[in-house]
Amino acid sequence: MARILITGPSGLLGINFALETMNKHELVAIDRGKLTRAPFRVLNGDLLNAETLDSALDFARPQWLINCAALADLEACENNPGMSRRLNVDLPAQMAQACKARGISFVHISTDAVFDGEKNGFYTEEDSPNPLGVYAQTKLDGEQAVFAENENAIVARVNFYGWSLSGRRSLAEFFHHNLTHQKSMSGFTDVKFCPMLVNDTARILIKMLQKNMSGLYHLVGPQAMSKYQFGIEIARRFGLKASEISPKSINTSSLIARRAHNLCLSTQKLSTALGESLPEFSTGLNEFYTQFEQGYPQKIRSYQQ
Ligand SMILES: NC(=O)c1ccc[n+]([C@@H]2O[C@H](COP(=O)([O-])OP(=O)(O)OC[C@H]3O[C@@H](n4cnc5c(N)ncnc54)[C@H](OP(=O)(O)O)[C@@H]3O)[C@@H](O)[C@H]2O)c1
Repeated sequence: MARILITGPSGLLGINFALETMNKHELVAIDRGKLTRAPFRVLNGDLLNAETLDSALDFARPQWLINCAALADLEACENNPGMSRRLNVDLPAQMAQACKARGISFVHISTDAVFDGEKNGFYTEEDSPNPLGVYAQTKLDGEQAVFAENENAIVARVNFYGWSLSGRRSLAEFFHHNLTHQKSMSGFTDVKFCPMLVNDTARILIKMLQKNMSGLYHLVGPQAMSKYQFGIEIARRFGLKASEISPKSINTSSLIARRAHNLCLSTQKLSTALGESLPEFSTGLNEFYTQFEQGYPQKIRSYQQ
């Protein structure tokens, strides 16, 4: 059992990470007031206030700090680059420094979107990033700022789906919501990624900490697919009408932030270090379905007012 402090517990990764760990570890989370009924210990605080981090570290005295806080909305980052930089670069650097000074293991979460998507194949940790927008640029700068302060940190480039507090945070929820409300929708055929169930992401992060790993790792699902194919997989698993999803090119979308066409990452470095293969896409999707059947989305939503 470890003492863990997490940031961003109201986010998609944060809430699922908290639920995966709260019964096995001693967990404290820092939240801005959304989680009024969480089943784990929550401290209130805005991480952009200079004292919040230090006082939370003083209180929780964690062995591990997992930073799930970010400005992770690509469009919001384009509209507010200053906030994006503060949350995605300056804050993780401050955390990395504080963890080094206190002997705490630090995990920072980055993204597959640091790449420009021009490679034909799976990106490795050795490939050069080339961010296409403010979000991606600040996430890359955040990785570098973390390692400049703390060479023992873990930085994981992720992509995940799952059930969230708002019910709208993940692409899987988007497809599921529209399919169950018989709303037609489109899915991009020319954006490829490697989705992983967020609970798997959380469990693997814990394993990485338990193995005292450090450095940069790609932590995504082992299977590549387009966002359109992902929607079709969701429809099929839930027995919903896949024909409601129409194929579409991202080039015809009105999104402001540029998106890469290929965000498929190789996870070989991670699976070799862990000594095991990462969970198959179908295993994660089955768990996502079972969670739905067992009322997991409603349980998560009940933690806020
Ligand atoms: N979702 C994905 O598939 C995906 C893909 C690639 C990388 N990532 C990365 O994974 C990490 C987690 O992403 P996510 O999707 O879970 O993000 P999210 O759902 O947007 O959650 C972000 C979290 O950060 C918190 N936060 C923001 N500003 C804060 C502040 N000033 N003080 C305290 N907390 C603050 C938010 O709190 P409030 O609720 O109060 O705003 C929220 O809990 C991020 O680093 C993201 O870049 C995510």
